[in-house]
Amino acid sequence: MTMQRTFSIIKPDATRRNLTGAINSKIEASGLRIIGQKRIHMSDREAREFYAIHAERPFYNDLVSFMTSGPVVVQVLEGQNAITAYREVMGSTNPSEAADGTIRKEFAESIEANSVHGSDSIENAAIEISYFFTDEEIVG
Ligand code: CMP
Repeated sequence: MTMQRTFSIIKPDATRRNLTGAINSKIEASGLRIIGQKRIHMSDREAREFYAIHAERPFYNDLVSFMTSGPVVVQVLEGQNAITAYREVMGSTNPSEAADGTIRKEFAESIEANSVHGSDSIENAAIEISYFFTDEEIVG
């Protein structure tokens, strides 16, 4: 078991439906701690840079439009094996494939409007956290 940090986004489909608290409840019930959190409106440039890895995908422009369509809540989560643990709490990217009890099974509207993002590796977690948070904004 390794103590890790991961990066999370509560996406515009979820903030629009007032689901921030419900999603945070699931995060905290899993044992993960929310050690950094802020509500922001991502700029077009931030969304494009954040999702640059998907720039060649057919859904890239729609994804950027969606992520800038309303407020998001960016978060730093900490816990044992936080990266894998949060991916289990989120469920599969496509909500129709997500397991019962997961955030995406309960709340996601579609594969795009899938309520949450979580880092997929230790390396990306570090990059994503530092993209949105200064050290002072993370209180462990
Ligand atoms: P996320 O975990 O934030 O990483 C990339 C995002 O792209 C993903 O969640 C979805 O919101 C979106 N996405 C992934 N695959 C598709 C797809 N096939 N069609 C539309 N959006 C997608």
